[in-house]
Amino acid sequence: MWGCEGATPSQPLFRGMQVRKQRALFVCSKCGATYSGWLGRCARCGEWNSLVQQIGQEHDSAVATPGGMAHAFPLCSVAAKEESRLHVPIGELARVLGGGLVPGSVVLLAGEPGIGKSTLVLQLASAIAASGEKALYVAAEESARQVGLRARRLGPVPESLLILPESRVEAVVEALEAESPAIAIVDSIQAVRVEARPGMAGSIIQVRDSAAALATCARTLEMPLAIIGHVTKSGAIAGPRVLEHLVDVVLYMEGDRYHAHRIVRCVKNRFGGTEEIGVFEMTGSGLQEVPNPSEAFLAERLVGASGSAVAATMEGSRPMLVEVQALTSHSYADKVRRTANGFELRRLLLLTAVLGRRCGLPMGQLDVFVNVVGGLQLVEPAADLAVALAVSSAALERPLPADTAFVGEVGLSGEVRSVPHLERRLMEAGRLGFKACLVPRTGRLPAASVAGCKAVPVRSLAEAFAACGLR
Ligand code: TYD
Ligand code: MG
Repeated sequence: MWGCEGATPSQPLFRGMQVRKQRALFVCSKCGATYSGWLGRCARCGEWNSLVQQIGQEHDSAVATPGGMAHAFPLCSVAAKEESRLHVPIGELARVLGGGLVPGSVVLLAGEPGIGKSTLVLQLASAIAASGEKALYVAAEESARQVGLRARRLGPVPESLLILPESRVEAVVEALEAESPAIAIVDSIQAVRVEARPGMAGSIIQVRDSAAALATCARTLEMPLAIIGHVTKSGAIAGPRVLEHLVDVVLYMEGDRYHAHRIVRCVKNRFGGTEEIGVFEMTGSGLQEVPNPSEAFLAERLVGASGSAVAATMEGSRPMLVEVQALTSHSYADKVRRTANGFELRRLLLLTAVLGRRCGLPMGQLDVFVNVVGGLQLVEPAADLAVALAVSSAALERPLPADTAFVGEVGLSGEVRSVPHLERRLMEAGRLGFKACLVPRTGRLPAASVAGCKAVPVRSLAEAFAACGLR
């Protein structure tokens, strides 16, 4: 009885337990017409706001028995079926999505206006359509002509890429049901509205209700749906934050719109991890994948400049070498200034305090500016050592050794603390021609040398200063 391996919900394990498939259905409370998605007006009787959600038959979860009592059943009896994912032909995007697109899943691609969201989803739709599948692009913000011009700029436009210039959610749902594409794109959620609901497109109610109706439609049709959402730096507008719990996957597109690199970061994924990032470069013909980000991020490095340090960081499973730049200048204001771009300000304040108290640098008189090159956000504490040394190098006006990378978390006593994946970081540094990498002396030490890059263990910032010839 308890050996339930291989049992499925359709094979009841207990008497009285009834497990059926169910599906969200919308029923008109006036005429009884049923729909798979929510509509503001019943298409049969014309009544407004008459649709109510009901549980139908056909889905993958347990339903209460007719007596109204719900029954729990062993979780192991649920068949572990691996979802067949829709292949994503753009490698960097597939990496972030954890393989491909799960049928019926809703992906939100969020980012500031002008960052390149429409370009990326158009490239995705185009690449999927090029493999013979039907892709449908709902253009609610731009005209079909504008999207057509952009698509041509990106390359040949496949015949199975359909465009629907429409902002009424009801009409979009109807078109999706009629076409049943392999993937649908809605650009953007702030530009569509449910006619039967109050408010302007972009208002919180409209954004939330439009997304809910579109998500229901995607799940019913078992079709992956990508929704675009704009955010501003202040997060002031109704947008993706309202939607995050409604969708399965949330991707953020980051980067400086005045620079070429774009990072796609996953912050929520019901079907995989959230640690991977995808790196792209905006070119005259769309976003190009950057399979070797370290090389791209170090391309413009001024070797021998003071205030520059290379951090050996990890982004998900991928080691990445990134340049950290620091500038210090004598402060003429009452209060010293600290700014950080691509690094958490709170951590920079902590590091400057440690440099002042533990290493004797005159931080109290210096303004400090830190910038991470390439638009990347260094969130890992392992980047501390590179940031601390970049600031020290700038303050002391002495360059760090050009062929050395840095990794380690810095503690309040000025100690360099252990971090994971040292071998992989050294391997990447060696691949890019770095001869040495300062690593924490505590924890598990890597091999003395990996791919030609020597591991130089240091216990503290003082030891790091000595190893780099700063003191
Ligand atoms: P877009 O995808 O429209 O941004 P979003 O949808 O996030 O608002 O792209 C914005 C910028 O990208 C725009 O300034 C023009 C630029 N761009 C290129 O540089 N090359 C290209 O091939 C394309 C299509 C756009
Ligand atoms: Mg756009």
